[in-house]
Amino acid sequence: MLLLGTRPEAIKLAPVARAMAASSLFEPMVVTTGQHREMLDQMLGLLGVGVKTDLAVMRDRQRLPELTARLVAGLGAAIRTERPDVVVVQGDTTTALCGALAAFYERVPVAHVEAGLRTGVLDNPFPEELNRRLIGRMAFWHFAPTARSAAHLRAEGVPAEQVITTGNTVVDNLLWVLREGTGRSAFRTGARRVLLTLHRRENQGHRMRAMGAALRQLADRGDVEIVLPLHRSPAVRDALLPELAGHPAVTVVEPLDYLDFAATLAACDLVLTDSGGVQEEAPSLGKPALVLRTTTERPEAVEAGAARLVGTDPQAILAAAVRLLDDRAEYGRMAQARHPFGDGRAAEHIVARLAEDFKGGPVRAGRSGAKEDDGRPLGDGASGSYDPTA
Ligand code: UD1
Ligand code: UDP
Repeated sequence: MLLLGTRPEAIKLAPVARAMAASSLFEPMVVTTGQHREMLDQMLGLLGVGVKTDLAVMRDRQRLPELTARLVAGLGAAIRTERPDVVVVQGDTTTALCGALAAFYERVPVAHVEAGLRTGVLDNPFPEELNRRLIGRMAFWHFAPTARSAAHLRAEGVPAEQVITTGNTVVDNLLWVLREGTGRSAFRTGARRVLLTLHRRENQGHRMRAMGAALRQLADRGDVEIVLPLHRSPAVRDALLPELAGHPAVTVVEPLDYLDFAATLAACDLVLTDSGGVQEEAPSLGKPALVLRTTTERPEAVEAGAARLVGTDPQAILAAAVRLLDDRAEYGRMAQARHPFGDGRAAEHIVARLAEDFKGGPVRAGRSGAKEDDGRPLGDGASGSYDPTA
């Protein structure tokens, strides 16, 4: 059972769904929570598998406690009804957290795709850092995109044989979609092309409004076009639209479907973003990315020289963008394709490992890969190591 509820989960689980559908060993079943509505529906075509159940949980301006309650109850029921052999969750959303929790309660083993990302700051990003740490306590298989994320998990006590380094499935999808090649860029002019995405909860409100004001100053330069595919969150719209709507150098568009977003990314000169997925995609296409956050769980892009963590201070953001636009040498150093997040075969590795482990029959449910802090294994008190035939 592939559980997903938001745009990035659909994008990043699509390669897994496609790979499972192509394998005679698996029968992938997609359950969506509808944590996102329009932005999720826009991506479902990528999965290549129909949706079995949709919980339709989204509410306008949803708050996390109520969303969590709806999700745990709904997902528990779906898992109880379907009794899958494995529940696959992705990343660090509330859907992923609640999916792992509901599966653990129903004693169905959990596979976590994009495991082990950490900023080390519990409330930044909020609430994702907590979510992914909690999923790391509940999952059996931990599919880590990079060596660093795998190391985080081992350091937290997850047995090494349950940590599998695969690359990030977002690269699989990006390369697949660019091969399809039918998207259209949202840029309208020949000016310097800046792609902007902002949505993080910890930036919403006053901070995001101030960031919008700084980006308006960037647009005032007269030699740039900023394309802003606007997240559907009303909190994001409240913050950004008063500053950026109507500016002749700012093209505000509704969320782009993945083909068009990939084409827009491929066409841009510079990326400004607080998105996780966009931080991973930009280096693959050699697009310099300024990360508008105070922390990142994806330092691999920064270390590779493809991204810079510029923080959320409006003047610092403006200065960093201006510098990159004006300093050709600096720009040239960043604008080289690099692949810190994988080679596009992550889903293949994930499905191969699950296939190997399921050869001996269903994996026993309710066993966690993470050890308690005192070093004793969770669950039945048996060894934390994994025996697929148990
Ligand atoms: C959520 C995830 C975040 C992820 C982001 C991807 C959590 C806690 N947060 O962000 O990790 O990076 O999605 O985009 O899981 N809305 C719509 N239509 C949509 C989507 C959202 O109207 O298609 C509106 C609704 O009013 C909704 C609000 O946006 O209540 C916020 O949606 P939500 O999923 O809670 O977004 P975030 O938490 O900001
Ligand atoms: N994306 C998209 N259309 C858009 C904006 C983003 O398809 O208009 C894709 C983008 O390519 C990336 C993903 O959405 O793969 C990122 O989602 P988001 O920024 O909402 O969430 P995050 O990655 O921060 O969790």
